Amino acid sequence: MEIRDLPIAVFDSGVGGISVLREMVRLMPEENFYFFGDSIHAPYGTKSVEEVQRLTVDNIAYMAKKGIKAVVVACNTATSAAIKRLRELYTDIPVVGIEPALKPAAMEKQGGRVLVLATPMTVQANKFHDLMVRYEDQATVVPVGCPGLMEFVENGILDGSQLKTYLKDLLEPYLQEPADAVVLGCTHYPFVKETIADVIGPGPHIIDGSEGTARELLRRLTEMKLLTSRKTRGEVLFEESVPEKIELCKRLLG
Ligand code: DGL
Repeated sequence: MEIRDLPIAVFDSGVGGISVLREMVRLMPEENFYFFGDSIHAPYGTKSVEEVQRLTVDNIAYMAKKGIKAVVVACNTATSAAIKRLRELYTDIPVVGIEPALKPAAMEKQGGRVLVLATPMTVQANKFHDLMVRYEDQATVVPVGCPGLMEFVENGILDGSQLKTYLKDLLEPYLQEPADAVVLGCTHYPFVKETIADVIGPGPHIIDGSEGTARELLRRLTEMKLLTSRKTRGEVLFEESVPEKIELCKRLLG
């Protein structure tokens, strides 16, 4: 098989990466995708950087053995811990990561207040600090670590009173002042976007990085002449370290 007809590897610590996969399938329907979720080790966001880097590198090495033409780290936490190492390891294929979408959020309003919801590890990481510094002249960036939020999605809880109470308790202190934009800096969170919108109320635009990541992948595949020659719809292969989660993956992909 030609390299350009191999699948694109999409990795997350669990089922959240499906929010990115969904955008990539929409943008590149002829491509084959190979999604791997590491739910058995989730959450990554409360682990150490070293541990997340090791898990990510090992899981992607496992995926790469099956034959892939690109790597998408569909996890903000794993991107901040491992993207540099992955780019050293896979030099001849595109390696695309995801980071909180501060750029479009900062453009909402000059000097606006932007809440960034992400895992504790993402908001503590140096990579996020550098990102904040890059936009500090354009917006007031307020990081909000959300321990426990990805677990709702992992358990298939996307709405309801328990989730709403959790979000209210978490976000209330940050909503004392008006926000102009809210960034979903974890790939699990787009699946609870409606409940988040309910809690924050009308006004702030809720932004996530999945579309930008899909566009970046398309750009890299085009640049490296790796787009598939297939003209028919491609396939999505799911693998999970907790095989029972595959049903949830399929449900989330829709
Ligand atoms: N989906 C992951 C992210 O984008 C993290 C969830 C976790 O494992 O804590 O950050």
